[in-house]
Amino acid sequence: MKEIDQILQSQLNEIKEQGTYKNERIIETAQESEINVNGKKVLNFCANNYLGLANNSEIREAAMKAIQEWGFGLGSVRFICGTQTIHKELEQSVSDFLGMEDTILYSSCFDANGGLFETILEQEDAVFSDELNHASIIDGIRLSKAQKFRYKNCDMNDLESKLIESSARVKLIVTDGVFSMDGTIAPVDSIVQLANKYNALVMVDDCHATGFIGKNGKGSGEHCGVLDKVDIISSTFGKALGGASGGFISASKNIVDTLRQKSRPYLFSNSLAPALVVACLKAINIISKNKNLILKLHDNTTYFRDQIKEIGYEVKGDSHPIVPIMIYDAKQAVALSEMLLEENIYVIPFSFPVVPKGQARIRVQLSSSHTKEQLQHSIKAFRECGKALNII
Ligand SMILES: Cc1ncc(COP(=O)(O)O)c(C=O)c1O
Repeated sequence: MKEIDQILQSQLNEIKEQGTYKNERIIETAQESEINVNGKKVLNFCANNYLGLANNSEIREAAMKAIQEWGFGLGSVRFICGTQTIHKELEQSVSDFLGMEDTILYSSCFDANGGLFETILEQEDAVFSDELNHASIIDGIRLSKAQKFRYKNCDMNDLESKLIESSARVKLIVTDGVFSMDGTIAPVDSIVQLANKYNALVMVDDCHATGFIGKNGKGSGEHCGVLDKVDIISSTFGKALGGASGGFISASKNIVDTLRQKSRPYLFSNSLAPALVVACLKAINIISKNKNLILKLHDNTTYFRDQIKEIGYEVKGDSHPIVPIMIYDAKQAVALSEMLLEENIYVIPFSFPVVPKGQARIRVQLSSSHTKEQLQHSIKAFRECGKALNII
C-alpha cells in the first residue's frame, strides 16, 4: 500500500469509529416519492424533490427533444463556443421569474457561490456571513480578499454590531434563505432593514426556497415581502426546479457582467448541457403558470408538521417542507431511522458534526408528490417506532 493510502486508511477508520462514515444507499429506480432501495419499495422522505419535478413527464419530454435539437453536449466553456440560444433563454427566464436585471448560469450553485465573492469584492470591502451558511458560501468567502465577519445564526443584534464595527467600502450581508438542517427561513426583511441602515448589499442563497417558498415560489425574499430589495440571489436547479443540476446567480447587470468576465468556475468550466437547460426552462414554465404544486406542498407541510407534533415529537423550524424531528441522542436517531426503514419509510438521521452535539434529529423532507395516504402511513410508522424506542 502506498503511504497516501495508509494515511487515508487510518483517517477513514477514525471516521468509522466516530460513527460518521457515510454509506450511500443505492436507489434502484427514478427519483420519486416511492423508490426501490435494496429491492424493497420504500416511501422516500429524503430528497430535495420539493415539487415532484425530478421525474416529471413534461420535463423528461423537453430534455429528450432538446437532445434531438441541440445535441448532447457542447464541449466548451461558455465564452469560447458554449453559449446557445437556449442558455440565454434560461438566463432571461430566471431573471424574469425573480424580477432581477440579469442572471448567469453555473454548473452548480456550489460553483456559483464559490465564484462570487472573490470576483466582486476586494480588500477594502467586507462580507457579513451567517454562521450557519452553506459550505459553498464559506468556501467562496475564504477565497476572497474581503474582510470577513461571521454573525450568529439569524441574530440581527449580532449582525448590527458587526455592521457598526466595519468601515468597509462595500458591505455585503450573506445568508442562506433557508437553513437546511433546521428548516428555518432567514429573516430577510430584517436583514434588508439593517442593510438600508448601514448602506450594505444583501445576498441570499435560496437553494431551499426557489420555486416553492413565497406565494409564487420566488423564494425567501418573496416570503418576507422584500424580494425587490435583495441585491444578489444564488440558487440551484438541483432541488425544486427539476432536481437535476446547475445553479445560477441573479443580480444587477454590472454584477452579472463582472461574473461573466472574471468568475473562475464560470470561465473555466464546461457549459451546461442542452438537455438540462431546456428541462430547467420547462420547470420554471410549469411553476410559473400553475400554483397547484406549491399549494399542495404547503398543504402536505402543514398536515405533516401538525400530525407529527400531535403524536408527541418535537419539531424544529418554520412552515418549511424540511421537518427536523428532534431526537437529541445520535444513537436513538439512528435506531429510529433503521426501524422506520423496516416499515418502508426512508428517512435520514443527522448527528454531530453535521448538527451540534446532542442535537441529533431525523430530517423529513416533504414533496408535493407525496399523497395523503403516504403521509398518513409515515405518521403511523413514526408513532409505532417512536413508542417502541421510548422516544415518545
Ligand atoms: C444552501 C445551499 N447552497 C448551495 C448548495 C449547492 O447547490 P448545488 O447542488 O447546485 O451545487 C446547496 C445544496 O445542497 C445548498 O443547500
